[in-house]
Amino acid sequence: MLTKKPKTKILVDGGDPEETLRIKSLIGFVDGQTTNPSLIAKNPEIQRRIISGHKLSLAEQSEEYKKIVQKISPLVGDAGVSIEVFANFSTTAEQMLAQGEDMFSWIPNAYIKYPCTYEGLRAAQMSVERGIRVNVTLCFSQEQAASIYAATRASKAPVYVSPFIGRLDDRGENGMDLIRAIQQMYKASDGHVYVLAASIRTVDQLLACFALGVELVTAPIRVLESWAAKGLPMPDRNFVYRGVDTDGKPLKPIPYKDIDLTKPWNAFNLRNDLTRKGIKTFVTDFEGTLLRPESVG
Ligand code: E4P
Repeated sequence: MLTKKPKTKILVDGGDPEETLRIKSLIGFVDGQTTNPSLIAKNPEIQRRIISGHKLSLAEQSEEYKKIVQKISPLVGDAGVSIEVFANFSTTAEQMLAQGEDMFSWIPNAYIKYPCTYEGLRAAQMSVERGIRVNVTLCFSQEQAASIYAATRASKAPVYVSPFIGRLDDRGENGMDLIRAIQQMYKASDGHVYVLAASIRTVDQLLACFALGVELVTAPIRVLESWAAKGLPMPDRNFVYRGVDTDGKPLKPIPYKDIDLTKPWNAFNLRNDLTRKGIKTFVTDFEGTLLRPESVG
């Protein structure tokens, strides 16, 4: 058990309430949970149905997702449960918002995840105006984080931005540098956007997030269990993060950019190939659980 709660909130990245319970007993608490279509597709109950040949209709899929987050919701603290809308490249902001409004009513501590695209940010902007808490996901650049900030200025609640560390590291870029750059850029902001470090693959990345003092970090059960097996260490003053790519080579730095946060959200460059790739994967995993692929939206 962790005797002293760190400044960084700890979230479980997964789609199985049993995992949340296991981590709660290891650490003593779980501040929140993040889910996504790939994680929900891996939920044991959904997998059982698929293996036995029973795929789901769109309505059943949504009902299953709801049941899963309703089980997770009471297990976590005030960082809430992030629920992701289903969006492909033709889903409009209005269609995402309609899903977000429904999902927000499932549990009292929901955060609605929208992809960091033009339509996703339009949906996030409309959501915060309606009092819906949001988490903008698949963020891979400082410009995208600037746009999220500008699009959600009206929010009364903290807005989460989820930069994906592991997926940047996988292609040889230092994801932790992006976290640092976003933190530095937000120093000159009104503070309404919180960094939720995501796509964590190693205990070292988790410790680096604690060392940087990010507001929130979400990690899969595998990483949290390895951290617990090491005795839940916290980084000390001398902690140095040395990320490596999949071949063990040092990562390419991501340089800090001077960005004017007062610009309108749609003035920033949102295009990013990793964001597009991420959407494709989520759609494939989501459709893999369905009776027949239907258009999402
Ligand atoms: C959480 O919000 C993200 O969806 C998740 O951390 C992505 O992790 P991955 O890159 O390991 O799929």
